[in-house]
Amino acid sequence: TAAMGAALSTCSPSAAASSARTGSLASKVAVLGASGGIGQPPLSLLLKQSPAVSQLSLYDIQGVKGVAADLSHISTRRSGFDGPASLSDCLKGSRVVVIPAGVPRKPGMTRDDLFNTNAGIVADLITAVAKTCPKAMICIVTNPVNSTVPIAAEILKKHNAYDPRRLFGVTTLDIVRSNAFVAEAKGLDVSKVSVPVIGGHSGVTIIPVISQAVPSVSFKAQDRETLTTRIQNAGTEVVNAKAGAGSATLSMAFAAEKFVDSVLQAIDGKRGVIECAFVESTVTEAPYFSTPLLLGRDGVEENLGLGNLIEFEAKLLQAAMPELQQNIAKGVKFVKERY
Ligand code: NAI
Repeated sequence: TAAMGAALSTCSPSAAASSARTGSLASKVAVLGASGGIGQPPLSLLLKQSPAVSQLSLYDIQGVKGVAADLSHISTRRSGFDGPASLSDCLKGSRVVVIPAGVPRKPGMTRDDLFNTNAGIVADLITAVAKTCPKAMICIVTNPVNSTVPIAAEILKKHNAYDPRRLFGVTTLDIVRSNAFVAEAKGLDVSKVSVPVIGGHSGVTIIPVISQAVPSVSFKAQDRETLTTRIQNAGTEVVNAKAGAGSATLSMAFAAEKFVDSVLQAIDGKRGVIECAFVESTVTEAPYFSTPLLLGRDGVEENLGLGNLIEFEAKLLQAAMPELQQNIAKGVKFVKERY
């Protein structure tokens, strides 16, 4: 646990950004779904400003020309900027592909309700990735992440392009939220707080491991439970507050940029980069599972596993399994039947 605690401290939102970068290799990043609530203002803007991104390429089925024209006037130093591109031009040469394409939730919807629309979108985009940049690190934001990651894996397998080290479901927003809420509850500097979140990315499958938080924090059982439930339902909190106008976009863009930045640093050779993400896994009986991962030049270098869970967290894990397994199986079945 001690080793994991030390390692996990690099998970905090500001740690990666403030530490020295070890390389400045050209890193092209493609955003698929770049005109949406996440893609357009927040994520593309953050990536346009990132010193780790040498070239940014945007793709969407609508509205991307305006986004590109607007972004192209930003006077950031190193970023080359492709403007709107065809899907294959957008992907060509990309080292990282971020996918926030697809519909978000409205009040009353679960993430699984998005499956029918988003499954096909992810499958089509991943087909293009498999053909154009099969070695890219693929970061999937599109929900339901518990299903879209297995869909992506199955499509990549069909094209002999699957490398489990390079496919990630982005769960960083769950960590960002946990860090924010724990810091708020305990009056801590949020830039120094790091809470691992394991499992999947929907409701009960989101398992904050508050017992492993860095720095260590203690909560009364009732408060821990309330906080856990809030983290699990935080996405719904935003969906309801936006009242039909979409789901989390600003906090999601912050989270996705943080994750992409960590991936870029790791592929540029920085050591000790750790992020939680939803990946192929043998840590539990679920074939995909999120845990802290040591990232390296080829993606996942080492899965750091569950660590020690307290009884409350072990129960959360048990409660998560049926839904998680069902979501994963649904994704696999979709590709088997349709492609
Ligand atoms: P949005 O509806 O505002 O934007 C989605 C964009 O995708 C639109 O511009 C649309 O034109 C584009 N798009 C649709 N089909 C496409 C295709 N085949 N190729 C390229 N682009 C395509 O939605 P928003 O708010 O940006 O959310 C996007 C996704 O991210 C949703 O599925 C949402 O549930 C998910 N999400 C995931 C989170 C996570 O933590 N992983 C958190 C928040 C949202």
